Amino acid sequence: MLVLAAIAYAVSPLVDQLTLRWFIRDLDIRSALIANTIQEPLQEQLAAGKKMKIGEFFNRIIQDERLFAIGYCATSAGPVVASRSLPKTIRCSELSRWEGPGDHLLQSDQGPLHVAVKASGDDLLEGKLVIIHDMSFVTRRSEETKRYVFYFFMALAAVISLVTVIIAQLSWRGWMAGMQALLRGEGLLRRPGSAVRPNSPEFRPIARDLQRLVQELEAETRSRDESQITWTPETLRAILHSELRGEDVIVVSNREPYIHQRRGERIEVQRPASGLVTALEPIMRACSGTWIAHGSGSADRVVVDKNDRIAVPPDKPAYQIRRVWLSPEEEAGYYYGLANEGLWPLCHIAHVRPTFRSDDWKQYVEVNRKFAKAVVSEAKTKDPIVFVQDYHFALLPKMIREELPNATIITFWHIPWPNPESFAICPWSEEVLAGLLGSSILGFHTQFHCNNFVDTVDRFLEARVDRESFTVTFGGKSTAVRRYPISIAWPPEAEAVRKEISSCRSDIRQLNGLPFEHKVGIGVDRLDYTKGIVERFRAVERLLELNPEWIGRFTFIQIAAPTRSGIEEYQHHEAQVRAMATHINGRFTRQGPPPIVLKVEHHDSQQVYEYFRSADLCFVSSLHDGMNLVAKEFVAARDDERGVLLLSQFTGAARELPEALIVNPYDADQCAAALHLGLTMSAQEQRDRMRLMRGLVAEFNVFRWAGRMLLDAASMRRRSRLIDKSSSGNA
Ligand code: F6P
Repeated sequence: MLVLAAIAYAVSPLVDQLTLRWFIRDLDIRSALIANTIQEPLQEQLAAGKKMKIGEFFNRIIQDERLFAIGYCATSAGPVVASRSLPKTIRCSELSRWEGPGDHLLQSDQGPLHVAVKASGDDLLEGKLVIIHDMSFVTRRSEETKRYVFYFFMALAAVISLVTVIIAQLSWRGWMAGMQALLRGEGLLRRPGSAVRPNSPEFRPIARDLQRLVQELEAETRSRDESQITWTPETLRAILHSELRGEDVIVVSNREPYIHQRRGERIEVQRPASGLVTALEPIMRACSGTWIAHGSGSADRVVVDKNDRIAVPPDKPAYQIRRVWLSPEEEAGYYYGLANEGLWPLCHIAHVRPTFRSDDWKQYVEVNRKFAKAVVSEAKTKDPIVFVQDYHFALLPKMIREELPNATIITFWHIPWPNPESFAICPWSEEVLAGLLGSSILGFHTQFHCNNFVDTVDRFLEARVDRESFTVTFGGKSTAVRRYPISIAWPPEAEAVRKEISSCRSDIRQLNGLPFEHKVGIGVDRLDYTKGIVERFRAVERLLELNPEWIGRFTFIQIAAPTRSGIEEYQHHEAQVRAMATHINGRFTRQGPPPIVLKVEHHDSQQVYEYFRSADLCFVSSLHDGMNLVAKEFVAARDDERGVLLLSQFTGAARELPEALIVNPYDADQCAAALHLGLTMSAQEQRDRMRLMRGLVAEFNVFRWAGRMLLDAASMRRRSRLIDKSSSGNA
């Protein structure tokens, strides 16, 4: 715009000069024409000697608007015969000044004048005609022209600006849309089932590279951010608030976090022995959502409201439990049968054969459907975040997806995932896989289990498996398969670590009839065959065989919470554990305390912490375990940085806690050597190892576990909203 104004300003004098020259030329021609025209009548007047009449004749002629004056000089010395308007400065003696080349302009009081001197012709005696034109019209025209030139340039500038703005707008929008589509892979990589037109295949590698770059940047930023966050309940709450706009989270698990049991006239609240509950309870306290679970306590129905809900924790309510009721047949088929006699041994390499019955499967399907209905009835929006737990609900993600297509479903599989050959044993392998693939995110503790799952899908389903992004697309829907190692709350509850270590040591020893200086090992598990309790006892026996100096000086206290006792395999296992303890105690108890104290009973978390704080070592010997939170709890309990952890190489925890003494529970000699090493380890070495392990558990606590999943869910929701918006824009 400014440039054009400058051009207009610079051009107008040039236009002025040019038009002036044209007008002068025109006036010269006009003057010649007038001279020729009046020549004859003038001649006649002169011949008739009517010199006086000539002036009048000239006055008549100058009636013409532009003709200003006419004069006649018979000789250069004589007077000028002229119209009234002839300027005084025009004299016959000075006519030569106006002859020849030049502009012949005269400035007068009336404005600019053009003076032309013409010889009046051969027939006249030496006479000369002076023809003067008024040039003020030239100035007027020039002003007008300048104005038009100016308007023209202004209009031109406006049009150019407008066109530029429109083009810029269109191309920016197009470019942006193109770029966004490119980054999403829509422009160049056609989305499955999308109406977006396919583009040139030669651009696809570029699109893929860009997508990958964006994903890497996203992941890098996130992991950088994650590592800078101190993960606490407040952090989690803030994430829910900012990233998920404070939406409620619905958790689904079989086991409920608080069980109401009838004890005579009283109702007692029990906390189950469950790693899952240990991990999720602090999350729910932080998130204030709804936890849907099987109401299994004898007084559970008495305490709920008309919607089967109860606010918990009882002393300081922070979230709701929504209880789902199961008939004894449903519980037998779904929980004891399909889940714990089928899927549990299928997924654990513990050499117990899985049992699959079609009646159990029917109950499993029906119970999953029952929970799906509960989820739908608890959902406050069309796109809730549903957090499904474990192998009890393999079909639930798909069932929820059918009812709430926009839900974000995070499923966490708390146990290992077997290799495809082992999984093939399940008669409903395809249904289980399809059910799980209803999830938006499917989490496992280790990358190894993620790999096993993806391999299994690849083997059994017609699905697209992207091993780079670890995404499975099945039936037009994608599931991200990710590793999220579970953990515990950090710091541990103040109440759990309030009692001094020295008091814990003396009280526990006193309680179990052990001398004050007695060495104590601790094991805390559900009484489950996957936990390797038999192998653990065998290791203690071997220790006493190989290092008899520990007889009477070392006792291993095993806390074993009764579990799934309706299943024959578990009854058999309990009998085996009890027999083994009796056998070893029979062999090595002389006058002193027994080498094994077996406590088959439920202990609350405070009592468990007291045992952890009193022990010299803790032995986790699982034959196969997704993670094992007992190992992390022991580490959390030891704020004195003492105590040795013996940890099975077949637990997920072994990958995170290499400073533990890592053992193969099937190798009794190796385990015995590790026990001996633990019992004789210097205080300094214990401290060095414990410090590193505590650092890891503090950093990778359960709030981070949940936070990472929720952050992934949040970015997934953002991405899919963006895609929906742009597809509705494209449509
Ligand atoms: O380890 C798998 C798991 O489901 C855990 O998540 C949980 O701690 C445990 O089993 C509980 O088992 P149950 O509820 O059958 O007693």
